[in-house]
Amino acid sequence: MTLSPSSTPAADHPGGIVDRFHWDWYQRAEPGAELLGDLTDRAVVELGAGSARQAAYLAHSHWPARVVAVDRDPAQHARGRDRFGNISRLDLVHDDAATYLNRHPSAFDVAYCVFGALDFTDPHTLLPAIAGGLRPGGLLAFSTLAHYRNGRPPETEPRPAKISTRRPDGSPVTMLRWVLDTPVWHKLCDQHGFDIDHTDAIHDPGSTHEPPIATSVFRAVRRGTA
Ligand SMILES: C[S@@+](CC[C@H](N)C(=O)[O-])C[C@H]1O[C@@H](n2cnc3c(N)ncnc32)[C@H](O)[C@@H]1O
Repeated sequence: MTLSPSSTPAADHPGGIVDRFHWDWYQRAEPGAELLGDLTDRAVVELGAGSARQAAYLAHSHWPARVVAVDRDPAQHARGRDRFGNISRLDLVHDDAATYLNRHPSAFDVAYCVFGALDFTDPHTLLPAIAGGLRPGGLLAFSTLAHYRNGRPPETEPRPAKISTRRPDGSPVTMLRWVLDTPVWHKLCDQHGFDIDHTDAIHDPGSTHEPPIATSVFRAVRRGTA
């Protein structure tokens, strides 16, 4: 899918809740929450939720049983609490995603990441934890960079790159980021008990101030019977 440059970013609802869900880097393209299916009465977990803007939107607008927004960064978690601490059906959790899921076996119907924990955690650690946290038949959906932000192609093996970035307080930090080619994600998901049923690439041409960025989006079903 290629985005037309005329697309506009989502407007905010009163209270700071966005009025749409996006998977892409610039948060302005299709598809949206429909990729997650009907969330009514579902237990949903976001892994690497940041300030929980997407989780707040789902809890507010899609009638889940609850959405648990997990983030390991204390500043991001605090920002989420400040902005969305009073939204019903939303739980904000400060924890590592794999650690949290390992403590909550078969607790969720749906798990998702938007450039979240799967980008920054060894998939051989996180994917088994996600499989364990989901009920059989549960859904995993995630979006991730289809290539490095400087345009370099993704890895053809499941290896991370060292990325220089900044903490929320502005201080520099080096992190590991997994930027993987589509067949690598397919193989990893299969190895860890998931059947991929949807793969998409959202190509945003960028603008004068924004480099072109492509986002990979995957949806997978956890194998096994209830
Ligand atoms: C690029 S931000 C994306 C945040 C949010 N999904 C969004 O789109 O605004 C990535 C987030 O993932 C979190 N994260 C990375 N690895 C994680 C892990 N293993 N467990 C929990 N959070 C993690 C980081 O702390 C960060 O807040």
